[in-house]
Amino acid sequence: MLIQDLENVIKEENLKGANICNATSLHPHEVVITQEEGKWKVYNTDERASLIGVVCYFDSEDEACEDFIKKLRLRKRQVELEKVIWEERTRKLQNIIIYGSQYGTAKKYADELANRLGFGLKSYESVGDINSYKTIIYVGALYAGGVLGMKKTFKSLKDCMRHKIIIATVGLADPTDKTNTDNIKRGMKKQLPVDVFDKAEFFHLRGGIDYSKLGFKHKTMMGMLYRKASTLPEDRKTAEVKAMIETYNKQVDFVDLSSLEAIIEACKE
Ligand SMILES: Cc1cc2nc3c(=O)[nH]c(=O)nc-3n(C[C@H](O)[C@H](O)[C@H](O)COP(=O)(O)O)c2cc1C
Repeated sequence: MLIQDLENVIKEENLKGANICNATSLHPHEVVITQEEGKWKVYNTDERASLIGVVCYFDSEDEACEDFIKKLRLRKRQVELEKVIWEERTRKLQNIIIYGSQYGTAKKYADELANRLGFGLKSYESVGDINSYKTIIYVGALYAGGVLGMKKTFKSLKDCMRHKIIIATVGLADPTDKTNTDNIKRGMKKQLPVDVFDKAEFFHLRGGIDYSKLGFKHKTMMGMLYRKASTLPEDRKTAEVKAMIETYNKQVDFVDLSSLEAIIEACKE
């Protein structure tokens, strides 16, 4: 290959950033080929149009031109790769996992989801406007039937048809028991705008409780619930009530990260 062949190869392969024999002054991110004192020189420029890396010297014009084209192809591949990485990063930034968690179990699920899906992660307290996100996954702890932070978060959503919405609750009640999940969903219906409730996909995860870590308000609430539940006749104790009685004043952890698989699958759809 000779210097006069370069233009054709550059045109055919749509190679960018070529500077042949100083036809123009140096620009940022160029590959340069020149001849000085009988030697051929090939090198790259950086973002300030200064020489970067090593200068390759050649006696033969053919070898210099081959090296020049090789460097231009490499540059083209790098630009394409950077574009793919940028697009992927932007795509992931458009998806968010928001959590509402008081003692950390809902956050544990949200952290794991964010890691596995590569989505952004924010607490409902700091998320702000959610309208710019494409996929919104809300992971919220259940407190007296309410999903922590969920109502506040979805209140500002303008057009829910533009988003994929997944809501996962985290509670002590066993989510494999349909009576429990029906109860939870009935409560959620009252906390969400109708269109959000209709559009959302729901999942129910099991959390845990450590009574020694509960704040005064929650300890008092649980004490009241426990006393009330204990007086119920046996046939009126739901699975949820029984679970609460059994775990009262204890430390239990039902967190099962493998139960996130179903949510990850739903994100792929
Ligand atoms: C005051 C109080 C009320 C609760 N209410 C419910 C409830 O209605 N349904 C339920 O399944 N779990 C309930 N729980 C259990 C929590 O949802 C569970 O501990 C959850 O894992 C807490 O999540 P967090 O650690 O992210 O705050 C309650 C816990 C407390 C302390």
